[in-house]
Amino acid sequence: MSHRSTTTEANEPAGFQPIDDPASIAPTMPAAVARRYGNADVVAIENVPTPQAGKGQVLIQVEASSLNALDWHFLTGTPYFLRLIAGLRRPKRTIHGADVAGTVVAVGADVTSLHVGDRVFGESAGGGCAPYLATKAEYLVTIPEGVSFRAAGATPVAGITALQGLRRHGGTRPGDHVLINGAAGGVGSFAVQIAKALGAEVTAVCSTRNVEMVERLGADHVVDYTTDDFVPGGARFDVMLDNIGNRSAADCISVLRPAGRYVAVSGPKQSRWLGPIGHLVRTRFAFRRADATFHQFTASSTPEDLRFLGELLASGVVVPEVQRTVGLDGVADALAEIGSGHARAKIVVIPT
Ligand SMILES: NC(=O)c1ccc[n+]([C@@H]2O[C@H](COP(=O)([O-])OP(=O)(O)OC[C@H]3O[C@@H](n4cnc5c(N)ncnc54)[C@H](OP(=O)(O)O)[C@@H]3O)[C@@H](O)[C@H]2O)c1
Repeated sequence: MSHRSTTTEANEPAGFQPIDDPASIAPTMPAAVARRYGNADVVAIENVPTPQAGKGQVLIQVEASSLNALDWHFLTGTPYFLRLIAGLRRPKRTIHGADVAGTVVAVGADVTSLHVGDRVFGESAGGGCAPYLATKAEYLVTIPEGVSFRAAGATPVAGITALQGLRRHGGTRPGDHVLINGAAGGVGSFAVQIAKALGAEVTAVCSTRNVEMVERLGADHVVDYTTDDFVPGGARFDVMLDNIGNRSAADCISVLRPAGRYVAVSGPKQSRWLGPIGHLVRTRFAFRRADATFHQFTASSTPEDLRFLGELLASGVVVPEVQRTVGLDGVADALAEIGSGHARAKIVVIPT
């Protein structure tokens, strides 16, 4: 397990100074808002009411958020079945950014676990692309000392997905050989580091321009999918964490050892209505005849997993790979990049 550079970056944004008196917070704030489903061009910067902490909630001064494929799905309302929860005709979630790191500036009724001035991070139901966010206190944990807001804000969704995929669903143990298909994106860049932290040997699959990055993140072997193919190579894996879903079930089964675990993080977006569901059902069915097992999951943030990630950040075992940091005016472009399917690691948003 390697310990890399310090977690508080030299370019940590100054952010706001914590506000002691919530009454001094302006009644409106700028935010990157999308009021209808569409591509990145529906995102505009608007002045919106500053939220207030309701029962069980805290108001956070957001110091850093980051964007994920999740935000792209909520922005576009695709696959369409998502609209059953996201809003049938118009999105209920108008401010994106489910990742959040910041300072608690007000505490709602019934909140005893957090206090004004606490540095916190976690996953919320959107809202990170604005200077203030009201969210449930139970979604948040405190940021360990020495960990920057930027690192904490880059972590929740992608880090939790990688951790739960590898540990809870993949049962990754020391000495396991783990294949990470799609190692250069948000989930993949955490998965390479977390798999190493769990004691695994890691083979990472990415394109040429990202080979150097995934090697730096700790991958023992890299397969450049533009020139090479991990299927006929003869390597066998205990866990395959699949962030892409571009291979047939037969291919996946063929690279797994008999007690191997195939963990489907994602699948090809084959249907505008159902996305990857058809592919995942067929793959699950094919695995019924295999010795290796099929595991599909939807990540769900827990305080325990967030604290575990916080420890990995504090110890320097995991250092979020941030390709760039943008302000509110960069949110639309960042979402478009994620929508292209070729974003590199994480894009952090500093919404001040
Ligand atoms: N199950 C869950 O709970 C859960 C949670 C989070 C995310 N997800 C899903 O998981 C997927 C990954 O999420 P993410 O946040 O990591 O997305 P992302 O950051 O947008 O990842 C995109 C990455 O995929 C890589 N890629 C594209 N085509 C590839 C190929 N043929 N082979 C290998 N790599 C390829 C790209 O690398 P190159 O540029 O090198 O091609 C890029 O770095 C998304 O579909 C997302 O919806 C699921």
